[in-house]
Amino acid sequence: MLKFPKFAAVAALAFAALASPSLADGDVGAGEKVFKKCAACHAVGDGAKHKVGPELNDVFGRTAGSVDDYKYSKPMMAAGEGGLVWDDTTLTEYLANPKAMVKGTKMAFAGLKKDDEIANVLAYLKSFSESEAASAPAAAETAEAAPVETAEASPAAEAEPVEAMAVETSKGAFGLGRVAMADEIAAWDIDIRPDGTGLPEGKGTVAEGEPLFADNCAVCHGDFGEGAGRWPVLAGGQDTLLKDRPVKTIGSYWPYLSTVFDYVRRAMPFGDARSLSDDDVYALTAYLLYLNDIVDDEDFELSNENFASIRLPNEDNFIPDDRLNEPHYAKGLEPCMTDCKPGPVEITARAQIIDVTPEGEGDENTGGGID
Ligand code: HEC
Ligand code: HEC
Repeated sequence: MLKFPKFAAVAALAFAALASPSLADGDVGAGEKVFKKCAACHAVGDGAKHKVGPELNDVFGRTAGSVDDYKYSKPMMAAGEGGLVWDDTTLTEYLANPKAMVKGTKMAFAGLKKDDEIANVLAYLKSFSESEAASAPAAAETAEAAPVETAEASPAAEAEPVEAMAVETSKGAFGLGRVAMADEIAAWDIDIRPDGTGLPEGKGTVAEGEPLFADNCAVCHGDFGEGAGRWPVLAGGQDTLLKDRPVKTIGSYWPYLSTVFDYVRRAMPFGDARSLSDDDVYALTAYLLYLNDIVDDEDFELSNENFASIRLPNEDNFIPDDRLNEPHYAKGLEPCMTDCKPGPVEITARAQIIDVTPEGEGDENTGGGID
């Protein structure tokens, strides 16, 4: 059932729409959730920086493609020069289908399918737009919520006295720098080995991973890991390794689950790396096992306890590199480095598949957008 979560989501939304008639105005809280689909590429709020896409503070009233220190696509800048200004109407059209409105935009996002999602995310963005803040009731809501958060956060921070900075200067030959602190090493030293060494304590189930994946990963990797546009495929590909164009995924190719956990924790979601909790990463890893048919129970829970017992199907095809023992490389057969082959160079074979490089802008199936 879980492999078709879309239907469940549609049903839930239809119900929500019946329950609250004023959705057209947009709901800031709901919009904040929708914004997770954007957050891999966009930041908004205090200190927001450009990511894959430009920061979105004050986007209402902004001329398209006009933020100075962000490198837009040519079509987006042309749209701005042609008079496109972001407001409720233009943003509604853009977010429904970015590439239809600004042909050739490098925003690799398929669009929001539901009108209420668009209304809600616009309400959320509006609360970060100066020109709209005074009139938007939504802004008042956030303004009220904000101080509460700070009030909660600061006593906790004060309660724990900042640990005295036990800085040890280096006793090395030149007396330069200082010895790294234990915390610094711990934050940096997060690699995990195939036998599970280095795993943090934690756990997460397939069922917990599914919504996390939908919110944080599906925009690029597809709802079922099939890959949106040209973003990487995360599932399937079994039995293709001997074909001309093997599909190498976690399930078909990767030897160890530790790499999946490490990679997701270290690098994903793309553009917002290290934003996931350890439990989130366990749940997402469990969900990726499920998408790859390596576990089939939605209640399956992955944890540091059972992690090492999970084996990926292709592990046995990775073998130790023992080529020094192979006859071809064995001692005595020193590789020839000079004047080796007599006679002129002959071309004996050509690459069969030469269309491996994706085409540039304007390619309809593009998932591009990484510069
Ligand atoms: C995969 C990355 C990605 C995702 C996801 C994404 N965007 Fe974008 N967005 C971009 C890029 C890149 C640009 C710049 C487009 C260009 O220059 O053609 C952009 C441009 C924009 C612009 C125009 C800004 C300006 O300064 O003119 C708006 C508005 C916008 N995005 C809103 C959103 C919203 C809202 C979402 C979520 C519903 C979203 N985007 C999801 C990458 C993304
Ligand atoms: C904005 C787009 C984007 C989002 C969102 C995103 N990824 Fe990725 N992901 C990528 C790109 C691009 C790569 C390839 C990076 C590279 O090869 O350097 C990748 C690679 C991966 C890989 C390795 C795939 C392989 O076979 O090499 C895994 C696993 C992965 N992502 C998991 C996730 C998970 C889990 C999430 C959600 C928490 C996520 N990604 C969110 C863009 C994204």
